[in-house]
Amino acid sequence: MVKQNYSVELHGVTKSFDNTQVLKSIDMELEKGKFYTLLGPSGCGKTTILRIIAGFTKASSGQVLIDGTEVTRVAANQRKVNTVFQDYALFPHMNIFDNIAFGLSVKGVDKATIKEKVSEMLRLVRLEGFEERYIDALSGGQKQRVAIARALINEPDVLLLDEPLSALDLKLRTDMQYELRELQRRLGITFVFVTHDQEEALAMSDWIYVLNNGEIVQSGTPVDIYDEPINRYVADFIGESNIVDAKMIEDYRVEFVGHTFDCEDGGILSGEAVEVVIRPEDVEITSPEAGQLIAKVDTQLFRGVFNEVIAYDEDNNEWMIHTTKKVETGSRIGLRFGPSDIHVMRFNESEEDFDARLEQYED
Ligand SMILES: Nc1ncnc2c1ncn2[C@@H]1O[C@H](COP(=O)(O)OP(=O)(O)OP(=O)(O)O)[C@@H](O)[C@H]1O
Ligand SMILES: [Mg+2]
Repeated sequence: MVKQNYSVELHGVTKSFDNTQVLKSIDMELEKGKFYTLLGPSGCGKTTILRIIAGFTKASSGQVLIDGTEVTRVAANQRKVNTVFQDYALFPHMNIFDNIAFGLSVKGVDKATIKEKVSEMLRLVRLEGFEERYIDALSGGQKQRVAIARALINEPDVLLLDEPLSALDLKLRTDMQYELRELQRRLGITFVFVTHDQEEALAMSDWIYVLNNGEIVQSGTPVDIYDEPINRYVADFIGESNIVDAKMIEDYRVEFVGHTFDCEDGGILSGEAVEVVIRPEDVEITSPEAGQLIAKVDTQLFRGVFNEVIAYDEDNNEWMIHTTKKVETGSRIGLRFGPSDIHVMRFNESEEDFDARLEQYED
C-alpha cells in the first residue's frame, strides 16, 4: 500500500524572537483536502504558525513538511502554499484583473492562458464582469474574494487564511463562511484558517487546534472540542459554560455543590479534585422540588431564540442557563442535568491522557 502523505506536517516546531519563546514544540499533521482552524486569543502564535508553514518565517527548531517532503529550509516562493492575509494585501494601483493575474504574470505565463485562468477564478468567486474595477471600488467581502482568487490562481495544494473575515460585518461574515467552506469542498485543497472567533471555528472546520501561549492545548473535531473540553481554558474559550469545583466519587459518579451526580466519565482516582463543565443549554429548569440543585434567579436576559438566566446555587456558584422557559427574577428554581451533560475535567491533564481516558470510558 502506498503511504498517503500528509498535506502539511509540523514536527517539534519552536520559535523564539529575541529570547522570547512564542511557539513551544508544535506538532501538526494535516490531511489533504480538509479544513483546519487555528483558534486562540491574540498573541498566542497563530500567525507565526502560518508564516512558518508558508516559509515567511524560519522555525527556531523542528521540521516542516509539505506533501511528505521536508521544506524547512525551502524558500516561500518554492512552496505550493498560498496565503490570504488579514488585510488582503491587494494592489490598490492595479485593477482586479491585474491583481488576480499577478502570480501568473511574474511567472511569465502567456497572456491567453492568464486571461482564461483569471476568468475561471472570477467565476469561482462570483465576480464576473469586475475585471476593470479598482480595489477601492469594492466592498470588504468583494476584496476578500479577490484576495482568495489571487491566491487560488497559483493552484496551491494548501491555502492559508489569516483571519480573512474579521473586517466584515456579521451578516457578510456569515455569508462568506458558507462561501469559503463551499469553495474548499469543491476544490478539495487543504485550508488552514486562522481565527480568534470560536463560533466561526465551530461552524467551518473539520478539525480545530486550540492554542494558548504558543502551545496546542487541544485538537479535535468541533463536536469533540465543544462537548469534551480538556480544561477550563478550552471550556471558557469555546462557548459559554458553567464550571464548578467537584470531586470524583468513583467511575461515573461525581460530587459537586454537596450532591452526587451520575456522569459518563471514568478513569479518574476516587477522591480526586476535578472540575465539571456544563453548557448553559444543557441545564434544565424545573420546580425547586424536582431540581437536583436549588438556585435563586438573579437576572434574565432575552436573547432572541432563548432566555439567558443567571442564577446562584446554595454554594453561591453562578449558573448560566439558556432556556425557552420564563422565570421570575428572585424566584427559587430547580436545576437538572443528565449524565451526558456533565463533563468532568482533570487539572493539568495532557491531551494524550485525556483522549485515552475518553476512548476507554465512552459508549
Ligand atoms: N517579528 C516579530 N518579532 C518579535 N516578536 C514577534 C514577531 N512576530 C510575532 N511576535 C510575537 O509573537 C507572539 C505571537 O504572535 P502572532 O502574531 O503569531 O500571534 P497571533 O496569534 O497571530 O495574534 P493575533 O490574533 O493578534 O493576530 C506575540 O507575542 C508577538 O508579539
Ligand atoms: Mg495574527
